[in-house]
Amino acid sequence: MYLTDQEKRILDGEEGEAKQAAMDLMVRYGEALDADRLLDVNNVMFAVYSPYPAKRVNFMNPNDYDAIYTFRNLGVPDKKMIIPRMHTNCGTLASNAPIEYLDYAKAPKEAYDALRSVDEFKRRVGISTCNTCVAYLTSQLPAFGEHIVWGESSAVVFANSVLGARTNCEGKEAGGAAALIGKIPNAGMHLAENRHATHVVYVESIPQTSEEWDLMGYSIGSQVVSGIPLLVGDFGVITTDEHKSIGCAMSTAGSVDLYHVLGLTPEAYDRSKCLGGNKPITLKYGEDEKKKAKEKLDFSDQDDLELVILGCPHYSIAQMKKAAYLLEGNKCAVPTLIMTSRQIKAMADWDGLTEIMEAAGVFVLTDTCLPNCGIFPPFAFTSMATDSGKQAHYMPSYRPDVKIHLGSMEQCLNSAVTGKWIGREV
Ligand code: F3S
Repeated sequence: MYLTDQEKRILDGEEGEAKQAAMDLMVRYGEALDADRLLDVNNVMFAVYSPYPAKRVNFMNPNDYDAIYTFRNLGVPDKKMIIPRMHTNCGTLASNAPIEYLDYAKAPKEAYDALRSVDEFKRRVGISTCNTCVAYLTSQLPAFGEHIVWGESSAVVFANSVLGARTNCEGKEAGGAAALIGKIPNAGMHLAENRHATHVVYVESIPQTSEEWDLMGYSIGSQVVSGIPLLVGDFGVITTDEHKSIGCAMSTAGSVDLYHVLGLTPEAYDRSKCLGGNKPITLKYGEDEKKKAKEKLDFSDQDDLELVILGCPHYSIAQMKKAAYLLEGNKCAVPTLIMTSRQIKAMADWDGLTEIMEAAGVFVLTDTCLPNCGIFPPFAFTSMATDSGKQAHYMPSYRPDVKIHLGSMEQCLNSAVTGKWIGREV
């Protein structure tokens, strides 16, 4: 793989031990991917791990963040380096429960210590505390064609498909190294020839509710498994929040980092250019496929609810507003969490939306998500509802005892108020 003189100097250690380790990792990664060179990047989103729950790093001092970063984000085991300030504009994925949630969940003291030490570390090295899967809505919006390094599947598929930016779904090591040196191998989704559609999906059942966008994405992801679908259908316009749902569900059910919608996404204005000479596999999404996805994700046989979780991916300000208006004047009969980013919550605070939600008994959770953060609310629950296909898909692997209903935001919030699932036949 070709290296510039500056890259060679970093590899020789002229800019310090940590950057040398980052460049070494990136060169080995590039060679494994058969990349011809490294690309310059200045937009990196990756996970900086919290040392809580402590079992994740029980082999090292949970407050020694230089050592944790070296191990988890540079892939250099058992070695401590002083991590310098980051080269790039980089931020963190939804990875850290905030103090308000630690209080709510009655978390142990170690969780507070971990939060303090990771926050101090991020400030010292210059990592922006985005702590969200939707940083593209507030702080890290890439341009069309820009090469970026993101690590959360729902954000990756949004960036590639809707924004036309270019990223693979990177792990914590590539993200951590890229944040330090601003480089990533020229491979995978970064190459134009790898972005052509491999499947054409004729969409006969056009989604009408927030739930149905999830069901469509989930079904197509399950059918494609690994590939790039081109969706063809009479969609009219697809909004940002609808794209957020499609991509998240699609990348949950399958290994899909990019989809196209004919006439609506930036690399799909022309069908034959979008296919780029590929002979695509033809699929369809109709009522049968919708029913199958619904059966997979809405599988609870219990009417009584014990928890409602909304906001996966994190809610946008438009979704916060809609949820607040649905809740206004009501009181939730069961614990209800709405997840969003700290930045969007600040807007919701300013607009009086958080106040409405909290008056209805909702806990607005920022910076992290369930079940990812590993800190569950301090009460037992075996029956929950959500408006997210990703939540319905993953929660059983963390909590196999929990039965789940999937529905629209309206259904979930109305059910939160009554404490009973308000079903709707699909
Ligand atoms: Fe975001 Fe967490 Fe869902 S990172 S996509 S809210 S699982």
